[in-house]
Amino acid sequence: MQILFEHIVQLVQVRPADVRLLRGEPMNRLPVIENAYLLIEDGIIRDYGPMDRKPADRPDRRIDASGRLVLPAWTDSHTHTVFPASRYGEFMDKIRGLSYEEIAARGGGILQSAKRLAEMSEDELLEGALARVHEMMRYGTGALEIKSGYGLSVEGELKILRVIQRLKSRVPIPVKATFLGAHAVPAGMARADYVRLVTDEMLPEVGRQGLADYVDIFCEKGYFTPDDTVRILENAARYGLRAKLHVNQFTSCGCLQTAVSHNALSVDHLEEMKPEDFDALQDADTIATGLPGCSFFLGIPYAPLKRMIEHGIPVALATDFNPGSAPSFNMNFMLGLACIKGRLTPEQAINAATLNAAAALELSDEMGSIARGKKARLILTKPLNHYGEIPYYFATNPVDEIFV
Ligand code: NIG
Ligand code: FE
Repeated sequence: MQILFEHIVQLVQVRPADVRLLRGEPMNRLPVIENAYLLIEDGIIRDYGPMDRKPADRPDRRIDASGRLVLPAWTDSHTHTVFPASRYGEFMDKIRGLSYEEIAARGGGILQSAKRLAEMSEDELLEGALARVHEMMRYGTGALEIKSGYGLSVEGELKILRVIQRLKSRVPIPVKATFLGAHAVPAGMARADYVRLVTDEMLPEVGRQGLADYVDIFCEKGYFTPDDTVRILENAARYGLRAKLHVNQFTSCGCLQTAVSHNALSVDHLEEMKPEDFDALQDADTIATGLPGCSFFLGIPYAPLKRMIEHGIPVALATDFNPGSAPSFNMNFMLGLACIKGRLTPEQAINAATLNAAAALELSDEMGSIARGKKARLILTKPLNHYGEIPYYFATNPVDEIFV
């Protein structure tokens, strides 16, 4: 099956297939072909170029993309998409002025979601998550990561991971599963005992059943310490689970250094950054993922992504979609926030949400840029003149059609 897009105003993010991650100067440039064609065959990008060099093919489907753009679908590399229900009640508390920490201390937060999850069946959880993923795709998301972390018991964590596993085969886009047993300490349990449960009981079962691609820890004051993190990471390594970690959301407490020294794939959040945190990331392979929807929703600082890019750190963008701190899955809005609040250029933001985001899920060899041989996971936009209009028309949906 061949599909030919013609008269594309801008074919965005055209790069050689072997460019897998951007940092430093290349982060500032976004290669584009104006008035372009693009040929895909059986879901693979076969050919592209300016219209005047279009070969005389007879495709099965012809799409007139006049006045519109084609770009790689977004990769949302950090989400908590499997959750039992909204936490709308907390929204009201938040409006009344309570902070995320205060809401959690009053029995809300992650523990509230865990309680609800225990009462729900896997089928119900799957149904809710499937609807969300299909909606995310309509907003241009062509790959995503989903974390556990609302189980908080051996049975609960296996349950939520099984739901993610089933979801993987029910959606047409790649989904990576991350084991986040260390998301919060259950009520009435000592932290050390819970960490032992994670390392000695959860991880071996998760590893044996092959239920996760990565491991995550909420490394934060009041949650888990750098020592806990080391213990969990060392155990996770036995099962081949690389780390994608929640760090520096509310405090800079040494977790970032721990993550980098354990060769984490990514460190996510990064709202609170000390100079030594920049130093740790500068020469590392670890990707720094900003989650501006969380900053927007909680009213906390935005991660200094601009400065990170200037320091040569590879930066990605994701939604953090979850019921407590970031209830939006709109990647287009994340680009708007990154540009408007973080002063990223549209070039930097799009690089962060496509190629680097795909790299943050080890998918950049197959998606994230327009390159011959890559999977055709693409966005065809509504009428737009320039890719910079995506963050400009903030919080809207520029997607006309997604191809996966
Ligand atoms: O990324 N920080 C920890 N985890 C989530 C929030 C999860 C929740 O509140 O349900 C986050 O912000
Ligand atoms: Fe998160």
